[in-house]
Amino acid sequence: MKLLIAGGAGYVGSTLIPKLLDRGYKVDVVDLFWFGNHLPRQAGILNKDIFQLSEEDLEPYDQVVFLAGLSNDPMAEYSPSKNFVFNAAAPSYLAYMAKKAKVKRYIYASSCSVYGYTENELYDETRPVSSSYPYGISKLQGEQAARQLADENFSVIALRKGTISGYSPRMRFDLIINTMFKSAMKDRTITINNPSIWRPLLSIQDAATAYIRAIEANHSISGVFNVASGNYTVGEVGDLVKAAIEERLGLSIHLIIKHIQDFRNYKVSIEKAKNVLSFHPSHDLKSIVVDLIDNMGKFQDWDNPLYSNISTFRSIESSIEMQAMATAVHQ
Ligand SMILES: NC(=O)c1ccc[n+]([C@@H]2O[C@H](COP(=O)([O-])OP(=O)(O)OC[C@H]3O[C@@H](n4cnc5c(N)ncnc54)[C@H](O)[C@@H]3O)[C@@H](O)[C@H]2O)c1
Repeated sequence: MKLLIAGGAGYVGSTLIPKLLDRGYKVDVVDLFWFGNHLPRQAGILNKDIFQLSEEDLEPYDQVVFLAGLSNDPMAEYSPSKNFVFNAAAPSYLAYMAKKAKVKRYIYASSCSVYGYTENELYDETRPVSSSYPYGISKLQGEQAARQLADENFSVIALRKGTISGYSPRMRFDLIINTMFKSAMKDRTITINNPSIWRPLLSIQDAATAYIRAIEANHSISGVFNVASGNYTVGEVGDLVKAAIEERLGLSIHLIIKHIQDFRNYKVSIEKAKNVLSFHPSHDLKSIVVDLIDNMGKFQDWDNPLYSNISTFRSIESSIEMQAMATAVHQ
C-alpha cells in the first residue's frame, strides 16, 4: 500500500511514519518543513505546499492522510486569515483532488477542540459542535468538507484527537503535558491556569496507533471518531506530572494554581473508536511523563524556538514580510 502523508514532517508524522515504514508501507511526505525534517531516509519527500499538488501527483496513492495546517490556537489567532486557508481550504482541496485521483481513503486530522465549551458532560460524536474561535471553526470546516465527499469508493475517516503529548523526534513544548514537563524541569514549577477545566489527552504513541487503525480499517468504514488516552482536569494533570517527576527523578516540584477563564472545556467518549476501529489506548498520563523522562537527553535545549509552533511561525511570517518589502523596494 502506498501512502501520502501531508504535513508528515510535524510532531505526529515524525512518530507515525517510522511505524508505517516498519509495517511495510511505502510512505511519501508532502510538507513545507517549517520545523525541519526528522523523518527516516526511507520516506519519500515532496518539499512543497499542498496547494501545488495536482491530480496526477495523487494518482499513485492508495490513501492520503492530512496532518498539516496551523496546529494550535496561538498560531490560528496570530493569523486568522492564514488559519482558514491552511486549516479549512487546504484539507478541502486535498480531499477533493484525492477523490478525483481515485485515492481509496482520506484520513483527516481533526481535533476535539471542535466541541468548544461544554458543561462537564461526556461528549460522543453525535453531540453538537460549538467552537467560536478560529482554530476550532477551521478544524470543523476541514472535517466537514472532507466528510461530504465520502461514498462507497472514497472512504473518509476524521480523527477528533485530544491534546497530544509525549516525545516525538519533531518535538513540541507547547502542548499541555509537555509544557508542564518543561517548566518543571527548567524552573521546578508547574503553573495551572484553571484546575477545573476538562481536557481529553492523547499520548503521541496512542495517536500513531489511531492512525494505523484508521489506515488498516475495512474499506467500508467512514466517519468521525473521538480519540483520546483519557479525560483529565487540568488540576489533575498538574498533580500527576509533578508526582511522576518527583518519583522518578527525586526532584521537588512546586505548583502554582490560577483561576483564569478558558474557552475550551470538554471530555469525550472514545467508545465508537474502540468498537469500530479497534482503537484501545495503551498509555496514561504517567506513561507519557515517563516517555518524556526517558527521552530527555534528546531535547534539553528547552527554549529552542522550533519546539514552539507560534515562535517558529512568527519568524517565518516576518521573514516572508521582509522579503516582500525588499522586493517592493527593488521594483
Ligand atoms: N498536536 C496536537 O495536540 C493535535 C491535537 C488535535 C489535532 N491535531 C491536528 O493534527 C495535525 C498534526 O499536528 P502536529 O502536532 O503534528 O502539527 P505540527 O505543527 O507539528 O506539523 C504540521 C506540519 O504541517 C506542515 N504544513 C503546514 N501547512 C502545510 C501546507 N500547506 N503544505 C505542506 N505542509 C504544510 C508543517 O510544515 C508541519 O511540518 C494538525 O492538523 C493538527 O491541527 C493536533
